[in-house]
Amino acid sequence: MKIAIVGATGLVGSNIIQLCEKNFNPEVEYTLFASKSSDGKKVTISNREYFVKELKKENIEAYDISLFSAGGERSKHYAKYFVNNGSFVIDNSSAFRMNEDVPLVVHGINENEITTSSKLISNPNCTTMGLVMALKPLHDEYTLVSMTPVAYQAVSGSGSEAVQSLNNETLLGDKLDSNYKDTYYPKPIARNVIPLAGNLTDNGYSDEEMKFVNESRKILGIPNLIVEPSNARVGVRTGHGTFCSAVFENEIDLEECTNLLNNFEGVEVWNDSLPTPIDVEGKNEVLISRLRQGLSSKNILNFWVVSDNLLKGAALNAVQIAKFVEKL
Ligand SMILES: NC(=O)c1ccc[n+]([C@@H]2O[C@H](COP(=O)([O-])OP(=O)(O)OC[C@H]3O[C@@H](n4cnc5c(N)ncnc54)[C@H](OP(=O)(O)O)[C@@H]3O)[C@@H](O)[C@H]2O)c1
Repeated sequence: MKIAIVGATGLVGSNIIQLCEKNFNPEVEYTLFASKSSDGKKVTISNREYFVKELKKENIEAYDISLFSAGGERSKHYAKYFVNNGSFVIDNSSAFRMNEDVPLVVHGINENEITTSSKLISNPNCTTMGLVMALKPLHDEYTLVSMTPVAYQAVSGSGSEAVQSLNNETLLGDKLDSNYKDTYYPKPIARNVIPLAGNLTDNGYSDEEMKFVNESRKILGIPNLIVEPSNARVGVRTGHGTFCSAVFENEIDLEECTNLLNNFEGVEVWNDSLPTPIDVEGKNEVLISRLRQGLSSKNILNFWVVSDNLLKGAALNAVQIAKFVEKL
């Protein structure tokens, strides 16, 4: 089998490489793509040496599965060449997520939407992915009507340049203040919270907030789901956390909610300790805690969910989809 990894030198791409090494037969042959500046970089996978290639049309051959994490522009421009050469493309960018004919897949929720003819498959937004993993078993039991998610997004969600900025700012210690300008975000992010994640859109919400709205509806199959999102960027390296207030059609039972969540593969409820981004970094599971029944209605569940944005939020879900596709 031949697998191409596009964006192989990035944060998501390097996690994809590690997960492929763990989950695929060592005989798999890889082709690694990145920008011109990484051309020729050496990477070892399953004891074999590979050299990163520049992503350009002439270098694209036939692969069975191609995993894209090199930004939306690269996906929009190059995915078609991979598909035309017979490959399944699993794309981490937002380029095709809302296309009607492209499945938006969270493994464990809706991978059965993938068929042999779905050559292009989108991996959802990292914050949305963690949240829908918590909502799916609850929705199946109580029917989700609306939700108010408030997200605390980690810096690695913006890529390696943002992480470098966080590291540099952290090293400044007490010398860092709000006048410091050499930052990835419009304000320093170390020791800080910026009450906007992503870019503002015309309606005053950020694109990250609108992903909560549109992608949750598509993944959960609830086209009229009401979503009132707010997303902040926080000075955390990895692990997106979300407080969510979810309203259901039916009255919830807290003990049953805990059981439903714990019985859902890939989800863990922590009762005795508070799961934080540092706890979830490097973990495949989505962690949940602070389950509370609403103060104003018995149909409301308030909870905290946190997941590794580079794993279930990106690389792990993509590789889970790749394993599913391998068996089609
Ligand atoms: N980080 C997350 O938590 C997360 C979660 C879900 C989805 N995503 C999506 O995944 C993608 C990558 O994110 P990331 O965090 O891994 O970013 P990153 O660390 O900045 O890595 C970007 C990757 O894209 C490659 N690239 C950039 N420009 C290119 C070009 N012109 N041609 C070919 N390759 C190019 C880079 O290669 P060089 O090293 O050669 O520059 C690198 O391999 C983005 O679309 C992002 O939205 C990220």
